[in-house]
Amino acid sequence: MRRARTAVLISGRGSNMMALVNAAREAAYPAEIVCVVSNKADARGLEFAAANGIPARLIDHKAYATRDAFEAALDACLRAMKVEVIALAGFMRVLTAGFISSWDGRMINIHPSLLPAYKGLHTHERALADGAKVHGCSVHLVTPELDGGPILLQAEVPVLADDTPETLGARVLEQEHRIYPQALSLLATRIISEDKT
Ligand code: GAR
Repeated sequence: MRRARTAVLISGRGSNMMALVNAAREAAYPAEIVCVVSNKADARGLEFAAANGIPARLIDHKAYATRDAFEAALDACLRAMKVEVIALAGFMRVLTAGFISSWDGRMINIHPSLLPAYKGLHTHERALADGAKVHGCSVHLVTPELDGGPILLQAEVPVLADDTPETLGARVLEQEHRIYPQALSLLATRIISEDKT
């Protein structure tokens, strides 16, 4: 079975990347993780990828004079690996419209809120400050509008009276690890089926 060649982009811990790598261990899973790329040298996820036999690359944005130069290096790395799908997993660098449009329909992101609520950062703090009763996470296609692309999957969690950003975030993260592999599977299946049409 053909599997969609997928890169996972990270900036830190990489727990969502690990969930994707673990899902892709299954032979029937429609995506294969062919590389993990970090823009930060200290991203803990890089070690996990290397230890699991997945090419792990550092493309440090600080080593490039401009955003365009950084993205050109990133794009060249992805094209060299014949990547078809990009999964952003805690990748904390805003990408330009030019880069995003060149991967149109082939790049997804996981975000820790029920979009369109709480785009951007500090989502758990903001949900608690608002007295939200329900919170969660979303996987969406990446478009030039930050955290604004079409939603593929969402999962809800309850907000409990004694929640802190940490306890709420942990409850959301559990759901991220569940839905991100499902969402990548949906996109990869679509991309593979496009080959046949
Ligand atoms: C995750 O909660 C992810 O949803 C969030 O960063 C965390 C990364 O954790 N992403 C964003 O906030 C994107 N704007 P991980 O490195 O363990 O996957």
